[in-house]
Amino acid sequence: MSENRPKVLNMHKLLDPGPELLAQAADVYQYPEGKALTEDNIAKAAEGCAGIVSMLMDPITETVLSVPGLKCVSNVAVGYDNIDVAAATRQGVMVTNTPGILDETTADFAFALLMAAARRVVQGDNFVRGTHFKGWAIDMMLGVDVNHATLGLIGIGRIGRAVARRARGFNMRVIYADTNPLLPDVERDMGVTRADLHTLLRESDFISVHVPLTDQTHHLIGEPELATMKPTAVLVNTSRGPVIDEAALVDALQNHRIFAAGLDVFEKEPKVHPGLIAAHNAVLAPHISSASTRTRSEMCAVAARNLVTAIRGGRPANLLNPEALTVHR
Ligand code: DGY
Repeated sequence: MSENRPKVLNMHKLLDPGPELLAQAADVYQYPEGKALTEDNIAKAAEGCAGIVSMLMDPITETVLSVPGLKCVSNVAVGYDNIDVAAATRQGVMVTNTPGILDETTADFAFALLMAAARRVVQGDNFVRGTHFKGWAIDMMLGVDVNHATLGLIGIGRIGRAVARRARGFNMRVIYADTNPLLPDVERDMGVTRADLHTLLRESDFISVHVPLTDQTHHLIGEPELATMKPTAVLVNTSRGPVIDEAALVDALQNHRIFAAGLDVFEKEPKVHPGLIAAHNAVLAPHISSASTRTRSEMCAVAARNLVTAIRGGRPANLLNPEALTVHR
């Protein structure tokens, strides 16, 4: 550690080249593995630091953001609902994320969940491993067709659009609900049509959620929305768990009010509702939609570059709150 180099707090293990990029510019203090991720612990660990490299499970609250000398919090994720951005702006702390890198990888996984849930891939795997497979049968593990079905995208940002591109290969009809409509020629080129949420829920065979978690999207899908879906519908979520009311989803799955769900995210991660664990018509994954080696390495590199630029006095590429630059601390 040197006297005049800035100090940064790195909350979790990073993939190459993240650690090297950080070490070139700062003395890196590693948050102790296994230490509880509370705002007080993080604030204490961040004392004397100009930057924090955080991840989606770190609560970056006003308490953390008030640490004197803190200039930037760089989140290794596109989502940043774990950070109180308004408080960061008040405190003059820059917040950055990693957009545009993980769209295709996440869309691949959303489609993997959609296919697995529709065609009962995980149930089939368990069945074979459990040595229950005694021979072909006409009615064994019947699923729902993906080809020529209607896909409803809730959110048509970069990831939603990447999912729509994949759907074309399956000859799907794609509709979307979003408060920010696409331009008419973009809709035409992509072959997608806008619908209100109720119509989308009623008409879709597959519903895939691609919205950030905000006060407006919290429990966007609850009991009434699930009741509007077809009994053959498949619901996929690769965005954030609390967008769906998990208890209501468990109820809908248990009572076969929808056909299946494919979930990569949960309301209280890493806890998973016991009803989902028990539901054979749910395919569950541990928040790995962006987890390809290339994408996760790139996320670490971009997060490290954002932080280094900020602590050197520059404007990072993925700055979420430029207003923070006008606040004098
Ligand atoms: C994100 O980036 O927000 C994902 O949830 C993790 O890749």
